[in-house]
Amino acid sequence: MQGIHMERQLSMLEAEDIQQTFGIDGHLQFTKDASGLAMASLRHAAGQLQLCLQGGHVFGWQIEGMAEPVLWLSPQARFAPGKSIRGGVPVCWPWFGPHGTDPGLPAHGFARTAPWQVKASEIDAQGRVSVSLCLQSEAGHAAMWPHAASLELTVLLGAELQMTLTTVNQGATPFVLGEALHTYFNISDIGGISVSGLEDESYWDTVGGVEKKVQRGMIRFMQETDRVYINTSASCTIEDPGFRRRIHIAKQGSLSTVVWNPWTDKAACMGDLGQPDGWRRMVCVESANAWDNCLMLAPGEHHSLSVSYRVESF
Ligand code: BG6
Repeated sequence: MQGIHMERQLSMLEAEDIQQTFGIDGHLQFTKDASGLAMASLRHAAGQLQLCLQGGHVFGWQIEGMAEPVLWLSPQARFAPGKSIRGGVPVCWPWFGPHGTDPGLPAHGFARTAPWQVKASEIDAQGRVSVSLCLQSEAGHAAMWPHAASLELTVLLGAELQMTLTTVNQGATPFVLGEALHTYFNISDIGGISVSGLEDESYWDTVGGVEKKVQRGMIRFMQETDRVYINTSASCTIEDPGFRRRIHIAKQGSLSTVVWNPWTDKAACMGDLGQPDGWRRMVCVESANAWDNCLMLAPGEHHSLSVSYRVESF
């Protein structure tokens, strides 16, 4: 209980106080932007990262010496209280996609728009910078999800980026959990990239109905693509000849991978995807536990989903 008490106290502190408690000179800086949202900037010799405390949302990652950011952020992304940011790494939790029974509840759960608290920060012997944020399911969420749980996100920035999402069931009853690190990658052109690693895996194709299929060869994009690959812990690689780089995605504690690009018509309906051609510059490869792979967490049980992102130039 003491941990929860501490987190409540911290929520009352302003960005300057967070900076005093958790900032690390030259490596971790907390600020408040014009919209009033608290932000964190992480700096390592190999790159920089930006994070919004609302949503525990990483929205920027640039590698030193590489012209193009790794993560895609929509030019129309909104930074505002209660709004989800289009791009970066939204945290989908405690359900993925539409709510199972109530279409009125927010898609992908409430974590991505909730205010998170800073819990810890560290610089390790290799100079890697980490920050841990936490979110407590509480009375305000009970109408949407009547369970007691804590969620922690640790972001570790070095030459690679590692993100770990840990859920603890603090209640007296089991609950079903769906989750994802819904990562938007910045690509040169959706028509020129491929995603490998999911060959021969089964997936639910959700475009124009729901159909189970098997992936033949690597994934190339020629139309709207919205797929939930199931029962796979495989690493994936985005090959991007236009940017002359490969993005490697390796994961643990995740059995689903979601691959999404909205293509023209859906992007036009979304309103915040960056018109006219934002959709050409992004692809989501999401490390998840969704659909068949939703988890059941017993009282006291915890689960961690961890993903490492590494970029290789060629
Ligand atoms: C993906 C889903 O994960 O997220 C898509 O597979 C969905 O179906 C997309 O459209 C974006 O969701 P949202 O709620 O951020 O618009």
